[in-house]
Amino acid sequence: MSEKKFVTLNVYRYNPDADNEPRYETYKIAYTRGQVVLDALNYIHENLDSTIAFRWNCGTGQCGGCSVMINNTPGLACRTLLEPDQTYSISPLARFPVVKDLVVDHDRGVRRIEKIRPYVERVEPAPRPEKLSREEVSEAMEMKSCIECYSCVAACPALVETWQEFIGPAGMGRLARLGYDPRDVLDRVKLAFINGVYNCTTCGACKEVCLPRHIDIRRKAIEKLRALAVDQGLGPMPGHKEFIKNADETGYVIGVTTTPFVERVPKVIEVEEPVDEVFFFPGCLINLRLQNVGMNVMEVLKRNRVRVRIPKNFVCCSSVMFRSGSRKTANELVLKNVEYFEGLGVKKLVSLCPGCMSTIKLDWPLVLHEMGRKPYTFKAMDINEYLVSDLGIENMNTKELKPLNITVTYHDPCHLNRHQGISEEPRKLLNLIPSLRFIESDESDRCCGAGGGVRAGVRNLSYTIAGKKLDLMNETGADALATSCSFCTIQLKDAASRSGYTQKVYNVTDLLAMSYKGTKP
Ligand code: SF4
Ligand code: SF4
Ligand code: FES
Repeated sequence: MSEKKFVTLNVYRYNPDADNEPRYETYKIAYTRGQVVLDALNYIHENLDSTIAFRWNCGTGQCGGCSVMINNTPGLACRTLLEPDQTYSISPLARFPVVKDLVVDHDRGVRRIEKIRPYVERVEPAPRPEKLSREEVSEAMEMKSCIECYSCVAACPALVETWQEFIGPAGMGRLARLGYDPRDVLDRVKLAFINGVYNCTTCGACKEVCLPRHIDIRRKAIEKLRALAVDQGLGPMPGHKEFIKNADETGYVIGVTTTPFVERVPKVIEVEEPVDEVFFFPGCLINLRLQNVGMNVMEVLKRNRVRVRIPKNFVCCSSVMFRSGSRKTANELVLKNVEYFEGLGVKKLVSLCPGCMSTIKLDWPLVLHEMGRKPYTFKAMDINEYLVSDLGIENMNTKELKPLNITVTYHDPCHLNRHQGISEEPRKLLNLIPSLRFIESDESDRCCGAGGGVRAGVRNLSYTIAGKKLDLMNETGADALATSCSFCTIQLKDAASRSGYTQKVYNVTDLLAMSYKGTKP
């Protein structure tokens, strides 16, 4: 007979009419296969404590009423499976006032949506019958499936800092849905602009917690609304314009201030008995500002006997243009790059910059498709992904790695973790380094505030978001902060110096290169 299994729930309890402060109550109950959080709450209510308050209606992921924080992440109680012998923290949905225990006042979310007139506004009565083609409604369909659970509102790192200025993911989804509806007569793009469409960092947390529908608010609402705002002359933000002007004029979003990376290295970096060959995509930042970071990537690849070819005439990946809505420039640069790389016969394209690589993986194929062109033929990979999965971590040169006596915590860049699904790989690489002690921070996947054009367009907001991130990382007591994104590195260093934090910020490949060279952090 199999042994009986249990599950433990630490449930937030608070009755504002009777309690001085909230507390957590612990309930250990029998585990049954397929049990969800709502089943456990119902069991507690029926068998252990009938005073516990929580909300639900459908029990099937349709009504949005049961959303709560599960281990600090928003989710639907009726759709979140429990695992045997695990402990869960269950608390009320963040950002909403608590009515009692797990019941929150959703009015705060509803009122935000009300101000954007969340219905099809029309001036003329509809003809009867009113017919809409599949094409006319297809764009709005995904947004239409929103059940208003507000999990995305609780997860959004930008909304919490700009509650008055930014309507947030659910509101942006609603604006997009109406904006794409041919029957609606209001200027939804202008409403999106007024309601903070440029405050989104494109972190993707909203899609991650949208368990009911997996609505891609970032790409299908926010980035599309931004592109429409640019078409209407409303966007981009003043802070983006210089970057786009540079890209139009030079092919790079930033200007040349010192010798570019591609001029500091030969066309081919040869190694003895190469095991593989890749092209390295430096992106604007490594090419024009962070050349030493590029050199460290070369060191790591060289130590692992990978021949590297440098595409001397690449242009910007267009991440800034896609994120800010400047599609014309973006499309031109994508085409230029694809034709150049295919002309070079590139088979494997590797980059350290997740902003570049997620654009190459996710946006370039769409542009090529829209233009009626064939998909690109090379394999595009992030450096962590390349080392761990393509080259193979088991084949890596660990003999030459020397000890680094340092404790390190890691920040998951949104464009690497959420948009490319790469989070284990950088940790595995850090763990190869002798004497390096790795400490996980709470919410390691919390956005640093740099992305989505927010650092350039809404700088103060980006620093506020980064401040929260740094506090979490510093709570670990780590000597240094690691990440795997040149843009996040700049943001964290900048925000750290403003907040008085003294820890250095490294890329994973910087630490690997130091360990190979035997230099001190
Ligand atoms: S992508 Fe991130 S910042 Fe943008 S709306 Fe979604 S959760 Fe908020
Ligand atoms: S977009 Fe998804 S997470 Fe946000 S309210 Fe709608 S269903 Fe919930
Ligand atoms: S109870 Fe309706 S969505 Fe969970």
